[in-house]
Amino acid sequence: MSNYEINKLKMPLNIPTLHRIEELKKASSEVKTFKFHSEEIAKQSEPGQFVMVWNPGIDEIPISIADASPDGELEVAIADAGDCTHSLHQKQVGDLIGLRGPYGKGFSLHGERICMVAGGYGAAPLRFAAKRAKELGKHVVVLEGAKSSAELLYVKDFSDLGCEVRDATEDGSGSYRGLVTELLEALLASGEEFVQVLTCGPELMMERVCEITRSERIPTQLSVERIIKCGCGACGSCDLGGYRVCKDGPVFDAEELERTEFGRWKREKSGKRISVKPDIRAGALLSIPPSRFTPEYEPLLKTEVCGVNFSNPIANAAGFGVSGKLLYRYAVAGAGAVVTKSVGRYEREGYPNPTFFEIAPHSSHSYVNAMGLPNPGIKDYGLEIEDAKHAGVPLILSIFGKSVEECREVAKVAIKYPIDMLEFNASCPHTDFVAVENNPKLLSGIIKEIRSIVHPIPIAVKISPNVGDPAGLAMTAEKAGADAITAINTVIARPIDHTLDIPILGNPTGYGGKSGKDLTVGGKRVVFALYEELKIPVIAVGGIFSAKDVIEYARNGASLFQVGSALVCEGLEIFSRIKKELKEYLIANKYKNIGEVVGEAYRR
Ligand SMILES: Cc1cc2nc3c(=O)[nH]c(=O)nc-3n(C[C@H](O)[C@H](O)[C@H](O)COP(=O)(O)O)c2cc1C
Ligand code: FES
Repeated sequence: MSNYEINKLKMPLNIPTLHRIEELKKASSEVKTFKFHSEEIAKQSEPGQFVMVWNPGIDEIPISIADASPDGELEVAIADAGDCTHSLHQKQVGDLIGLRGPYGKGFSLHGERICMVAGGYGAAPLRFAAKRAKELGKHVVVLEGAKSSAELLYVKDFSDLGCEVRDATEDGSGSYRGLVTELLEALLASGEEFVQVLTCGPELMMERVCEITRSERIPTQLSVERIIKCGCGACGSCDLGGYRVCKDGPVFDAEELERTEFGRWKREKSGKRISVKPDIRAGALLSIPPSRFTPEYEPLLKTEVCGVNFSNPIANAAGFGVSGKLLYRYAVAGAGAVVTKSVGRYEREGYPNPTFFEIAPHSSHSYVNAMGLPNPGIKDYGLEIEDAKHAGVPLILSIFGKSVEECREVAKVAIKYPIDMLEFNASCPHTDFVAVENNPKLLSGIIKEIRSIVHPIPIAVKISPNVGDPAGLAMTAEKAGADAITAINTVIARPIDHTLDIPILGNPTGYGGKSGKDLTVGGKRVVFALYEELKIPVIAVGGIFSAKDVIEYARNGASLFQVGSALVCEGLEIFSRIKKELKEYLIANKYKNIGEVVGEAYRR
């Protein structure tokens, strides 16, 4: 089998794919177990991982895997807790549900004696973990907590697996009246010893479990919940202290979360911070600041664009993270600049899921998204900028708005933040903000207005190939005062599920934008056309996956380079890999600096 085939087998199923419900069982007063047959997902599933469950036409939600077997049986436990889950509870055996995954990092099992602490439907991933632990011959004690005994989940399943099970209920209808954390304390006080504790349940319960196990020095792993949209590390909606819960979690070692907001605040769909416990003290929503980072000095790669100095010319693309701490991680991983999520005047939660998936099922590395510009609003974005600035690299604030007046208000707040450049997103193809790109007069008015407010901060204008004449539009922006053009934004698309004959994306219009490998060739062509026509620098984005792509974009005229979709398949390591390969190329071809490559294709 070739490496490509081996990698393909390890890849999650990245497109919502219809599966019939094979079996439905009531598992507690709130929860039903759904059984599917999916060899593709089940064979690769590990305890602690999750799948995205698409209820067509309604929403797509992350659900922990409650069981999976090598012959393709896959079980998920769904609690009737909201509109989407309520509608799923009305489904019958034989109905079609979309699944993609498995996603995330699961539990890793250590030692002979493991204690599992479950709260509510947190028992579901622990059931799969208990099964795996028993297969490995471990002794497992399960402590389960719920409001009442009717809500206790999988107690018999745990017993049948050979686990020792104890329960705690708040109303006393089970064996012990009280909290499951009290059971844990009592168990440890009785002298029971464990090599590891695994926990899943409400955040404050898990926080207490971690306090108890920290004082007893027992290594603990916990499975965390945050807002999941893409599910695979693209959008940053699931941020927790700079970690993407869908990719770096959902299972974390307790120590990893110690210097984060875990147990204090989380994020809304918009990315806005909200408290997880009633705490209205000033500063309750602040991060624990990351330590100051100093980027490496890289003579071959250092670049100056619009008067801003970059230690290297590789940044992330806008939209691959809302949180300042994630942007900070990009810089530590090697990015020479960071670009924020596009931020508007008001908070927006974005479209319902599905918001992001791969266009073809396996390793096409081309994606489609309709996030719908979720963002906390410019006034609340200062908290993120504060965190990101600890990275010590230039910060590019991406903004949007659909009228001169709206953009004026955004710019008036933006100018108060310590930013190095603005990027005006004129080109989100699946929102009504795309109107700006289609109306050169409006774009010109907006850029003049922003220019007058943010001077001397440089402004880049981001365009897409969705307009007939990108170079003409870029020239309009240049004339209005833009200092650079960023190209390209995503390419308009409307993926359909052919069995149901409905759009897959949750955007009510069904439209989204393509990104990734499909953009590599077209992006380079647009950059070449812009370089020919413009006096201002061009910033390249679109299908950059390697140093080869950077060099080709540079030869076509780009001076800075933004990496987006490649972060999904390769992760943060992509920044250092591209830089290493770039340096090797420059040395081998006797260039003294990347700047010498810029525009070579035009000069020849
Ligand atoms: C999940 C996702 C969110 C995005 N959000 C934004 C955004 O907020 N602002 C923006 O200007 N572009 C946004 N984009 C477009 C990217 O910045 C980039 O232009 C596009 O993905 C092409 O680059 P890539 O092929 O490297 O992904 C987003 C793209 C994706 C996939
Ligand atoms: S949901 Fe985790 S990065 Fe998008």
